[in-house]
Amino acid sequence: MADAVLGGRAAGFSETEAGLRFEVDGEIATITLDRPEKRNAQTFATWSALARIGDNLPEQVRVVVVQGEGPSFSAGIDLRMFTPEGVPGQGSFSSAAAADNDTFDERIARAQQGFTWLRRPEIVSIAAVHGHAIGAGFQLALACDLRIVADDVRFCMKEPALGLVPDLTGTKPLVDLVGTAKAIDICLTARIVGAEEAFRLGLAERVVARTELAQAVQDKIAELLSTNRDAATATKRLLQGARERTLEEQCAAERKEQAARIRALFASG
Ligand code: ACO
Repeated sequence: MADAVLGGRAAGFSETEAGLRFEVDGEIATITLDRPEKRNAQTFATWSALARIGDNLPEQVRVVVVQGEGPSFSAGIDLRMFTPEGVPGQGSFSSAAAADNDTFDERIARAQQGFTWLRRPEIVSIAAVHGHAIGAGFQLALACDLRIVADDVRFCMKEPALGLVPDLTGTKPLVDLVGTAKAIDICLTARIVGAEEAFRLGLAERVVARTELAQAVQDKIAELLSTNRDAATATKRLLQGARERTLEEQCAAERKEQAARIRALFASG
């Protein structure tokens, strides 16, 4: 029943249906959205495949790069979802509207799992974004720790313009990065945010020419891999928890992480 509603053959989509490639080279994993003829539009198969990659990420991986093939990073959700026919095997918004609450919730939660693992402390995720990053495309870029963007980038949170809310984990990182007022502005107008503004707002760490994007990502990877892995993981844990903790709690968390580091590095016998 659930499969007919939203997720389709959720557990068994092929990479072709998912529209992405996954490659591992030592400590670096690369996910490439690979449906350029449809501007890397995403489906439930895409999100299911992303979740599976997260579930099975090889332990040696320290950096995950998310990028898009062709003219756009991603044009967001596949617009066939808005049609009565939907996406073959994956349902439509019409079929979703008929689902019971638990089924609906479960399917969205599974889709969100395709995004949340990109923030794990053990890895650093980098979105290499060029061209359009619309809706689910913008949210996928927001799910990553860092965004390095080409000067032609065009972010757009289009969901409210289509009557929807952003539900692929994007609202929290957006607010964390730009603040509530700017997030309201960006989402409720569904306007385009270009490279210069993205950099100014802190949405992008770096802006480079389109032809220099791949090299800029490689440079950042080299910098990230130059630090101690366990220290990087512990530091990321500290940074991720810092906003929610009081100063006293954060100090205690620093002490705890440091004790583990010092023991790992210097304890004898
Ligand atoms: N879903 C399905 N197909 C898409 C999507 C999409 N989101 N975006 C583009 N395509 C298809 C087009 O239908 C077209 O297919 P065709 O060649 O078979 O006709 C092909 O990709 C190329 O699209 P163009 O519009 O010709 O490409 P262009 O480079 O001129 O424009 C742009 C790119 C701006 C991204 C435009 O395609 C667009 O606006 N797409 C829709 C964006 C959108 O509304 N996404 C949903 C956001 S909400 C959410 O993600 C939850």
